[in-house]
Amino acid sequence: MSKVSVIGIGYVGLVTAVCLADADNKVVCIDKDLNKIEMLRNGNSPIFEPELEELITKNIEKKNLIFKTEIDDESLLSDTIFIAVGTPMIESTGRADLSYVFNVAEELGTRLGSLKGESLKTIVLKSTVPPGTTLKVKKIIESKMNGSINIVFNPEFLREGTAIKDTFYPDRIVFGAESEEPVEKLKTIYKKMVKQENPQFVSASINSAELIKYASNAFLATKISFINEIANLCELIGANVGDVAEGVGLDKRIGKSFLNAGIGYGGSCFPKDTRALDHLAGDHGHVFQLLKAVIDVNNMQKKRFVNKIKKVLDGVEGKRIGVLGLAFKQDTDDVRESIAIDIVDSLAEAGAKVSAHDPLAEKNAKVILSKHKNSIVYCDTPYDAAKKADALIIATEWDSFKKIDLEKIKKSMNKQIIFDGRNMLDAKEAVKLGFDYHSIGGYGN
Ligand code: UGA
Repeated sequence: MSKVSVIGIGYVGLVTAVCLADADNKVVCIDKDLNKIEMLRNGNSPIFEPELEELITKNIEKKNLIFKTEIDDESLLSDTIFIAVGTPMIESTGRADLSYVFNVAEELGTRLGSLKGESLKTIVLKSTVPPGTTLKVKKIIESKMNGSINIVFNPEFLREGTAIKDTFYPDRIVFGAESEEPVEKLKTIYKKMVKQENPQFVSASINSAELIKYASNAFLATKISFINEIANLCELIGANVGDVAEGVGLDKRIGKSFLNAGIGYGGSCFPKDTRALDHLAGDHGHVFQLLKAVIDVNNMQKKRFVNKIKKVLDGVEGKRIGVLGLAFKQDTDDVRESIAIDIVDSLAEAGAKVSAHDPLAEKNAKVILSKHKNSIVYCDTPYDAAKKADALIIATEWDSFKKIDLEKIKKSMNKQIIFDGRNMLDAKEAVKLGFDYHSIGGYGN
C-alpha cells in the first residue's frame, strides 16, 4: 500500500484523491478551507459529482482517506505529493493566477526542509499552468528546503459531471518530467488505479506536457466555436446544423464529439485556458489568430442569442421569460463562467422578469445573480418556470429537458415561443404543437 498526499482539494484534487484511495492507497488530503475539510470528514462532498460521495464515505470507512488543513508531518510521510490547487483566471488580465501554486510550493519547500534524512520526494503538479511554471515550482521548493526533489507535470483531463469515470478510464495519462525514474513510479500508481488493461501513457518534456493540457482544451473549444459558426451560417442559408455536424463528425479524423452547436462554451476551464494560452503566445511574440477567433466567436454567440430573443419578442422589458438551466453544462451544480448565467444577467439587465429552473445549480446561481434578485424567481420544476411565460429558453443541456411534456408547457405559457439554445428538444414535435420554435443553426429544419 502506497502513501500519497494531495494538496488542494478542489475538483481535480478531490477526485484524484478519492480514486487513488479507492485503489487502496493511503491518501492524505490537504486544503486550507476548514469548512470543506469538515464536510469531507463527515463524508459529505462539497461538490456534486456522480458516484463521488459514495466513494468518499467508503474510503473514509476503509481509513484510506484522511483530511487536513495543514501540510503536517503525516502529509510529508508520503513519497508522492500531488499539487492540485486552482489556477483561476485573473479577471482584469485574463491570465492564469499562479499565486496558489507558488504559495503551496513555498510552504511545501519549507516543510520538507525541516525533515531530516528523508528519501527523495516526487512532487506531481496537476494544476493547469503555463509552460515554465512547473520548473519554477521545483526551484521554489528546492530553494526553500535546501535540497532536491523530483518534479513531474501530470495534467488532468477529467470533465465535470463524468469526473470519476474519466479518472478510472482515461484516454491517456501524460507525464512531463526531467528523468524516467519518477515517471515509472507514477505509472505503477496509475496502473493500480485505472480500470483499463493497458492505459495509454505519454511521456514528454515538462514544457510539452504543460502545453498538451492547454492545446487539448483549446482544440475542444475550437471545435465548439467552429460548429457554432457553421450554425450561424446554417441560419442564413436555411440548413440544419444537427445534420451538418453528424455528416462531418462521422469522418473519424474529425469525430462526432464536441460538435454540438449552442450558445457557447463555459465553465472553469475552456474560457480560462483559451485566454491563458492566448497570453502565453502573445508573451512569446506570437499572434495566435485562430485562438483569438475562437474566443471572439464564443463571446459573440451568447450575444447573438440574446439579440435573437429581443428581436422575436420585440424587446424583453416587462416580459416574463422562463429559463431552463443555469449550470455551465449538464450534471453539475457549477455555474462558473456559465453562459446560461450570462444570458439571465443580460435579460434581467434589459428589464425582463425571469423564472429560472435548474435541477442542481439554483443555490450557486442565486449567489452569482444576487444583484437581480428582484427580477428572478427560482422554480422547482421546468413546468413552473414556463408558467405564464412569454418565451421559454433552454440554456443548459440537461438530459431531463429532452423529456419535457411540451403539450403541458404549451397550455401554461402566455405565448408559445421557445428558444432552444442547446438544440435539445424534439423540434418537429414543438413545431407540430404550434410553438414558434427557434433553435441554434436551423436544427429541426
Ligand atoms: C473540460 C475538458 O473537456 C476536460 O477534458 C478538462 O479536463 C477540463 O475542461 C479541465 O480543464 O479541467 P469541463 O469544463 O468539465 O471539461 O466540461 P466540458 O464537458 O468540456 O464542457 C465545456 C463547455 O463546452 C460547456 O459549457 C459545454 O456546454 C460546452 N460544449 C461542450 C458545447 O457547447 N458543445 C459541445 O459539443 C460540447
